[in-house]
Amino acid sequence: MISLQTTPAWQALQAHADRFKSVHLRVLFAEDPKRFERFCHVLGDMVVDFSKNRIVDETLALLIKLAREADVESWRARMFAGEKINTTEDRAVLHVALRNRANRPIKVDGQDVMPGVNGGLQKMRTFVEAVRSGSFSGIKGDRITDIVNIGIGGSDLGPMMVCEALTPYRHADLNVHFVSNVDGSQIAETLKALDPARTLFIVASKTFATQETLSNAQTARNWLLEALGEDAVKSHFVAVSANTKAVTAFGIDPANMFEIWDWVGGRFSLWSAIGLPIALTIGMDKFEEMLEGAHALDEHFKNEPLETNIPVIMALIGIWNVNFLDIACHAVLPYDQSMHRFPAYLQQAEMESSGKSVSREGDVLSVNTAPVVFGEPGSTGQHAFYQLLHQGTQIVSADFIAPAISHNPTGDHHKILISNFLAQPEALMNGRTDTEAREALEAAGLAGESLENLLPHTVFLGNRPTTSILVKRIDPRTLGLLIALYEHKIFVQGVIWGINSFDQWGVELGKQLAQAILPELDDPKSNSDIAVSGHDSSTQGLINHFKRLCK
Ligand code: F6P
Repeated sequence: MISLQTTPAWQALQAHADRFKSVHLRVLFAEDPKRFERFCHVLGDMVVDFSKNRIVDETLALLIKLAREADVESWRARMFAGEKINTTEDRAVLHVALRNRANRPIKVDGQDVMPGVNGGLQKMRTFVEAVRSGSFSGIKGDRITDIVNIGIGGSDLGPMMVCEALTPYRHADLNVHFVSNVDGSQIAETLKALDPARTLFIVASKTFATQETLSNAQTARNWLLEALGEDAVKSHFVAVSANTKAVTAFGIDPANMFEIWDWVGGRFSLWSAIGLPIALTIGMDKFEEMLEGAHALDEHFKNEPLETNIPVIMALIGIWNVNFLDIACHAVLPYDQSMHRFPAYLQQAEMESSGKSVSREGDVLSVNTAPVVFGEPGSTGQHAFYQLLHQGTQIVSADFIAPAISHNPTGDHHKILISNFLAQPEALMNGRTDTEAREALEAAGLAGESLENLLPHTVFLGNRPTTSILVKRIDPRTLGLLIALYEHKIFVQGVIWGINSFDQWGVELGKQLAQAILPELDDPKSNSDIAVSGHDSSTQGLINHFKRLCK
């Protein structure tokens, strides 16, 4: 395989970066009064402003060339056509089929997947309406008031993020809880407050083989059986999975199983029946509005030329930041409290997809891939880690996201929030020069030695790249659009880096080693004097201390 760095587009970008690296964003804005118009894109009610990134027209033109050299357009066509582009798992990648509202046939192995998708949505609708209306009840005839989703990774983060983000649309009498961690405290604390007769469990696991999920599901099952007896399982448990055999073996009636397919990747699965907690919470019509929003973004991604294609530009600027400006961290900062799990969701979406160091063909990559993604909602994060964003030695790129309209327009809160959403990228971009800092200190009444001592601490270098995304309000449609934007960004970056964005072999090794260690921890009280062996001295030492401390 040809190394990415030797391709003409990469070399042109490298030369451009070498010439351009020291240019400050302040200068770019001063030189070009039309910079905002040039780099801001609008899709429906979504405004994406890329102008505070360290780019000029030439940068984007070269990046588009890179995308063309990497064949982004034909990879995109292959994904939408249902080709098995997830080569290490020999699977198609078809989250776009789950929200294919145009209902165009999409074939996998010669078979149109759309009848299955539509049938799945219909089955979800019937169930959701029954639970929400109370016609589906618990074994003793009680109305279901609490849903507990038991899943992890993509079977947890996506549905949980959306349920939180769409809080204003929630059914008033239906609470939703998420249990993911194998730490027994999470399920124990969740169950404490619940009435078994009114609780419905969704065991969400594509493979139905995930240790954390099965352990939590078993604990939930025991809790239910103790209160209501064996027969209660069929009225209080449903499953979302691709593994009917394991679901049946667990004791869940296959009639209560919602199917997902091998071409739905875990971290891209919230559009499928993995989204059942979302649909139960906000209703099936609103769930479908979310699908509509994602579909609108899919159409844009599929049809828009690369030059004006928002997820493509977003992906390319991400590559520019990581590979040419050496920025290794990316912050996602939603200025909307209901979006507080969006950064966590994107951590999985981006880092599990793009955290790779070999190419699709298995060759070691010569360039960096995914940055570290993290974030918190604004303005809370401002009082925690923004210090580093403004004055740290490591540059962090960031996405700022905000709705123009709040669901809770209380007093001046939203205007204060938005003033912060606008001010932070401005500060990160402009910084504060030595002269400006001096003037500010003088204006505050400082002079002489005290001014000189404080001065270096109040200078901000600026030139920190950010993207601002402004939407009308966080509603199901907009959220669908926003999530799909990031999904396609991840896809485009994967194509350019030449990686398989749809597998996750990196999570396997730790899982296997934990399986080997588990029996060694068994009965720590009675075996505490027996030192285990076969590990490095650190792991073994910790195991032995664990046993000692358990005494
Ligand atoms: O962490 C690995 C992973 O396979 C994720 O990709 C996935 O979202 C998660 O585990 C849960 O998998 P499952 O839905 O099969 O339980």
